[in-house]
Amino acid sequence: QGRITPKRIRSMKGGQPIVCLAAYTTPMARLLDAHCDLLLVGDSLGMVLYGMETTVSVTLDMMIAHGQAVMRGVKNACVAVDMPFGSYQESREVAFRNAVRLLQETGCDAVKLEGGEEMAETIAFLTTRGVPVLGHIGLMPQQVHTAGGYRSVGHSDEESAKLRRDASAIGSSGAFAVVIEGTVETLARELTAQVEVPTIGIGASSACDGQILVSDDMLGLFNDFTPRFVKRYDELGQRVRKAAEDYAREVRARQFPGPEHTFKRRS
Ligand code: KIV
Ligand code: NA
Repeated sequence: QGRITPKRIRSMKGGQPIVCLAAYTTPMARLLDAHCDLLLVGDSLGMVLYGMETTVSVTLDMMIAHGQAVMRGVKNACVAVDMPFGSYQESREVAFRNAVRLLQETGCDAVKLEGGEEMAETIAFLTTRGVPVLGHIGLMPQQVHTAGGYRSVGHSDEESAKLRRDASAIGSSGAFAVVIEGTVETLARELTAQVEVPTIGIGASSACDGQILVSDDMLGLFNDFTPRFVKRYDELGQRVRKAAEDYAREVRARQFPGPEHTFKRRS
């Protein structure tokens, strides 16, 4: 029995909450796989793994390399890979070509792309030609330069109306589900009731059909900033610091390596 399919995720609308995490590497994918319905190879890897300021610099080659890495560690979860900035906005044909590269070169199940009503036509083009698409509306990190920063949305009537139009357009575009990032609870609840496909929230309240977090955030491994919506399930960053400190002390004191770590000639 193979991985969970995008079609199966689609069928989970209104049922048990859909469990999703973003992950970027084989060992992390192996650890998370059994517990998740969907793993996302997110372009957040630019910031989390590579120290970039924004996700705007992430390339298709980076997404392919990490998509391949995650696929090597997954047996159960559905795997979606983010289309990076610049790989899909220009035309639906360019979007199709690059989505096919992600599917063919990584073996993933679906792609994700950011955008509201303006991207609905592209999503329809892809999904009617065999590419499963996960939508992403609300706070869209790839638009940081035009938005002037990262800010949750839906605080004004104008913003709420725009998000309603986006949700409606993506919900009927053929996307199998839609990520909603950074919006207020009342609107998230309304959008979840309004759209026919599952909503997967990040900073979008418990009213969504599923939840997603970045694994490094929820593990306390990435601490550059912690948005309000992240719950820390562990503090691995502190544990790594402590381990490095212990190692350095023992090496300097010639306590490591000990006899049990040392090869002896077998006479
Ligand atoms: O890049 C990412 O990790 C994401 C999710 C957090 C939704 O887009
Ligand atoms: Na992303």
